[in-house]
Amino acid sequence: HRASFTLDPAFSVGTVDPRLFGSFVEHLGRCVYTGVHEPGHPAADEHGFRRDVLDLVRELGVTVVRYPGGNFVSGHRWEDGVGPVRKARLEPAWRSVESNEFGLGEFAAWARAAGIEPMMAVNLGTRGVQEACDLLEYANHPGGTHLSDLRAEHGAAEPYGIRLWCLGNEMDGSWQIGHRPAADYGKLAAATARAMRMIDPGLELVACGSSHHGMPTFGAWEEEVLSAAYDDVDHVSLHAYYREEDDDPAGFLASGSAMEAFIEDVVATCDHVRAKLKRRKRITLSFDEWNVWYMRPMEEEARPWERAPRLLENTYSLTDAVAVGGMLIALLRHADRVKIACQAQLVNVIAPIMTEPGGPAWRQTIFHPFAQASRYGRGEVLRVEPVSPVVETAAHGETPLLHATAVRDGEGTVTVFAVNRALDGPMELTADVRALSDGLRVLSHEVLADDDRHAKNTRENPDRVRPRPAADGTAVDGGRLRAVLPPLSWNVIRLG
Ligand code: AHR
Repeated sequence: HRASFTLDPAFSVGTVDPRLFGSFVEHLGRCVYTGVHEPGHPAADEHGFRRDVLDLVRELGVTVVRYPGGNFVSGHRWEDGVGPVRKARLEPAWRSVESNEFGLGEFAAWARAAGIEPMMAVNLGTRGVQEACDLLEYANHPGGTHLSDLRAEHGAAEPYGIRLWCLGNEMDGSWQIGHRPAADYGKLAAATARAMRMIDPGLELVACGSSHHGMPTFGAWEEEVLSAAYDDVDHVSLHAYYREEDDDPAGFLASGSAMEAFIEDVVATCDHVRAKLKRRKRITLSFDEWNVWYMRPMEEEARPWERAPRLLENTYSLTDAVAVGGMLIALLRHADRVKIACQAQLVNVIAPIMTEPGGPAWRQTIFHPFAQASRYGRGEVLRVEPVSPVVETAAHGETPLLHATAVRDGEGTVTVFAVNRALDGPMELTADVRALSDGLRVLSHEVLADDDRHAKNTRENPDRVRPRPAADGTAVDGGRLRAVLPPLSWNVIRLG
């Protein structure tokens, strides 16, 4: 296969918001307990935070973490997780017993230790405006009121200063506790946003969009919610999970393009409401749940009520990692409108990081494209329009075999992120780079590929799939970058 594109710094999509490299910690399965928090583990610090996990979180390059859910938040009472007395509760969303040993204070301390920005969700399922305001007062007010003084009594004299807040979670979904029609949710989101801003005007607020592109209410939901809450919110959320089905890897590898189509549809809907309301402000996008997820029936079945059960513990393959690479490319290609994105989730639960209780922590295959994108995907996204052969897929129609983007940092170093979706052969890539600086050379070309597309990283073999230098041959010559991308591969080519 052969593909090409042109890079020109004059044609920029926009600046990458570092919050594009966010993640998500939900009270679900073993994400919190025995994931980020395991007192008694040999690597635990004085708070019970696993240092081995913290090291991997830093290496992953996560910038922002959404918390505490997810479906969990829609039945959550934040007061149960603060102060000296913690209340164990039934947690119906994931049919688990929630000990509440880890709560807001622990999350704030963990976020500090991890060097990430916290992104909180308020419960708009079983609760409303008052409880959201109470939580905000507890978290962000400096002192002199019952709730802010209570925080100080609980050991946090300084306010947490949480700026980013989600107004509920997936309120369009029938599975969501307190699910309600768009018009009702839109009014509730607007009222909650207005009250929260009265307490803290510096907040950034996210309204719930659709739980996935295929929701029967998709489009109409965003239209109705934003018609009610346009002036009160900053972002609208998108959630999407993809997986290989019916032994159709080509369709699965097109997920990045499907994600782009989803983003473009949401942008169109936001701008439609903008036009209708005659506003200047533009709503931006928070893609605050995205990943590969193989749902298993056991997650839906009635199980005994347990603490931190093993749920959603997917082990990812090379194919999954390449698909995730495509999703990162999709987000970068829309950096003008997507300002926040959270891979769901961070540890153990559909996650790049896995742990064993009392045992090691390791990197899944999907860890690597995320870490490289976060490390090198900072700066200006250049417009990339590949000329590429296409493949017809059952899941997503005609899809180009090359999926790519490029980011130019402050020093002029350009990183090309490229996925070769072809399973049957390498891709000869040529990029016209004459508009970039003179004397440009290839600094590195790293590849994630494997002879076995089902290869996985496991506790026993945690580094089977990892980036490796590409075979020699990637070079700039006469203003043209030439590289060979192996079949089914994620590639990071740095030029400087
Ligand atoms: O991330 C897993 C779940 O997926 C979240 O709890 C929910 O918001 C979504 O449906």
